[in-house]
Amino acid sequence: MFLKDLFGLEDYPLEALQEILRRAAYFKKNQEDLIPSLEGKNIALSFWEPSTRTRLSFELAIKKLGGRVVNFLPEISSENKGESIDDTVQTLRSIGADALVFRHSTPGIFNSVAQLLDIPFISGGEGCYQHPTQALLDIFTLQESGLDLAGKQVVMIGDIVHSRVARSHFYALPLFGAKLTLVAPPSLLPPELVPAGASYFHHLEEAISDGDIIYLLRVQKERQAKGYVPSLNEYAALYGLDEKRMSLLKKDALLMHPGPVNIGIEINWEVIKHFENIYPQRILFQEQVQNGVFVRMAILDLFLNGRGS
Ligand code: CP
Repeated sequence: MFLKDLFGLEDYPLEALQEILRRAAYFKKNQEDLIPSLEGKNIALSFWEPSTRTRLSFELAIKKLGGRVVNFLPEISSENKGESIDDTVQTLRSIGADALVFRHSTPGIFNSVAQLLDIPFISGGEGCYQHPTQALLDIFTLQESGLDLAGKQVVMIGDIVHSRVARSHFYALPLFGAKLTLVAPPSLLPPELVPAGASYFHHLEEAISDGDIIYLLRVQKERQAKGYVPSLNEYAALYGLDEKRMSLLKKDALLMHPGPVNIGIEINWEVIKHFENIYPQRILFQEQVQNGVFVRMAILDLFLNGRGS
């Protein structure tokens, strides 16, 4: 059921994703009494783009299962002396890595370098392509909150064009029976990007009251070189979640964001705190982060130990 690598979710059937989620739930429930299933394994973390949540939760996941972390830091590596990425991954394998977890800005790069290796290659986010572990931890978090995704409407708001999280959800959410609505300015949501079966709007007020889940995406300031939005203030005014827009949400709507949040753009602190005070169970940002550890434990365990195959 599991291939050697995890780059994108389109390669996996629902049963494989459900097995990951079941295993994550097992790890979360039994976290005081874990079998060190990665004992003796060396897992290389190689992040070529900044990360807090993904990198550290993978690191913690490896340690909780008794594995060893090998941290490759591009900024102090021989990349600065001309080492190619092919050479880097082969070097990591030669020094004893049993799996690689990679983040890189270039879409498509994982597919080519993973072919050089006989060990699992797991994406920690690949350019604007996909971020499969984020989509899985989101679904885990929703299921944990008691929600059955079948027939539920997810309203995803923001920088769709640059979002690897959105692209993983284009596969994952329909597989679990959810319906998807995308909301963004036209420059951040080209119609050809909208997956079959999803709907889209350019005005937030047209969609927001239909959402069972409101999923905010980060405006990727680092990928705005072409001037996709005239100004962040204008984006915040048209697409930011403020008190007025919050009042339009369904009474039980859940609020998610993959992080990091651009405070004052997608949402501001006052609104987060106000929402947390009134509806503490409905704002899931921290639950998403916490569950990232257990979902990544499950992925490492299944891909390295070959269970479920
Ligand atoms: N959600 C996410 O990928 O966060 P980081 O960039 O901090 O890993």
